[in-house]
Amino acid sequence: MTLKFHSVATAIAFVAILLVSFDNVKNWSKNFQGNGTLMPGNDRFVLDYELIGLPNGAVGPESFAFDVTGSGPYTGVSDGRIIRWQANESRWVDFAVTSPERYGCEGPKDHSVMEHICGRPLGLRFNEQTGHLYVADAYMGLIEVGPNGGLGSPLSKQVDGVSFGFTNSLDIDQSNGLVYFTDSSTRFPRRNHIPVILSGDNSGRLMKFDPKTKETTLLLSNLMFPNGVALSKKGDFLLFVETTTCKLFKFWLKTSKAGILELLTQLPGFPDNVKRNKKGGFWVGINSRRTKFLDVVISNPWIGNLLIDFSVDLTKLHACLARFIGSSGMGIRLDEDGNVMEVLDGTMRSKWKFVSEVEEENGNLWIGSVTRAFVVKGKMSRTSKSI
Ligand SMILES: *[C@@H]1O[C@H](CO)[C@@H](O)[C@H](O)[C@H]1NC(C)=O
Repeated sequence: MTLKFHSVATAIAFVAILLVSFDNVKNWSKNFQGNGTLMPGNDRFVLDYELIGLPNGAVGPESFAFDVTGSGPYTGVSDGRIIRWQANESRWVDFAVTSPERYGCEGPKDHSVMEHICGRPLGLRFNEQTGHLYVADAYMGLIEVGPNGGLGSPLSKQVDGVSFGFTNSLDIDQSNGLVYFTDSSTRFPRRNHIPVILSGDNSGRLMKFDPKTKETTLLLSNLMFPNGVALSKKGDFLLFVETTTCKLFKFWLKTSKAGILELLTQLPGFPDNVKRNKKGGFWVGINSRRTKFLDVVISNPWIGNLLIDFSVDLTKLHACLARFIGSSGMGIRLDEDGNVMEVLDGTMRSKWKFVSEVEEENGNLWIGSVTRAFVVKGKMSRTSKSI
C-alpha cells in the first residue's frame, strides 16, 4: 500500500518534470530536420487576431469546415455539437449532432466524461457535390450529416473487423467523393490521449471510405497516433502526420508511386490537423513543442507504460499542469515537398495555444484548439524578427 502510494507520487513528480520541459525549446529551428528549410530571410509572421467565444460552456473547436456557399466556419465542440458561425449575426447556431443521446450533454462542465455518449466531433469536411458534411467523430466513427443538419448517420465504425477507437481527421476527394480518414488508436480513447504518445502505441490506421459501395478499405496500419490528413490539390497523394513521432508523411494514391509512403519532414512539435489552403500549401497545427527530454521519454515507452500501470491519469494531469505552465503552439505552412513556407508562432503569453488546426479561408486564418473556449480569427502580417 505504502509502496504503491510512493510509486504513484514518484510517477506524478516525474510527469510534472516532463510537462515543465514541454516549453523550454527556444531555438526550435535548429532542431528542424528532414527536407524542411526555413523561408529565405527567416521571416516569420505575426497574427492580428480576435477571439470568438463558444456558446453554452462548450470548449475545444478542434477543426473547421466551410459549406458549399462559403458559410461558416462549422466546428465540432466538447459537448458533441457541430455549430456554425453566422457571420452576419455574429453568433453561433446549432447545426448537427453525432449521437442521438443528448441528455445532460450540454452546459458548463467537464464534457470529457460523457463524450463516449454525446459524441466528440473532430475532423469536418463538406462534399462539394452533395453538400453533405462528413465528420470524424472520436467515438462514433465516420458520420454523414445532410445539408440541413440534425442527427448524423454512421457510415463506418470498423475496418477488417477491428473497431475504430479514436477516429480523428478526414479529407474528401471532391472529384469522386472518396473519404480518407484516420483512427488514432484502438487502445486508448480520445479523452485519454496522452498515453497514446507515452506508451508508444502503434495501433493507429489510415482508411478510405467509398460512399458508392459503402466500403471501408485499410490503407496503412501500425501507425503511431496518426492524426491530421489532407489530400493534395490534384488528388494524387495524401499528407498526414503522426503525433507521437512528430513526422509528416506523404502517401501516394496515384501515379507510378501509388502505395508508396515517404517521410517528408520532422516537425518541431506535436502536430494535429493538416489543412490544404487554396494556394496549394498545407497548414499543420502544432499543439506544443517537443523537447529533448520528451524525446528520451518517447523513445523509452516502458516509462510511459509504467505510469499507465500505476493508473496515473496522464491526460488529466497534463491538462491541469498545462494551464499553469502554458505551451506555445504554432502553425506551419509547408509546400507539397515539406519545405516550410510560413511560420505562425504563438508565444506562452498569447491567448492562442494548443493549436489543433489552422484553416485559411478568404485571407482569414481560423485557429482551433482542442481545449480552448474560443475560436481565433486572425490575419497574418510579416515581421523581420528572426526565429
Ligand atoms: C443572416 O443570413 C441568414 C442566411 O445566410 C439569414 O437567414 C438571416 O436572416 C440573416 N440575418 C440578418 C440579420 O440579416
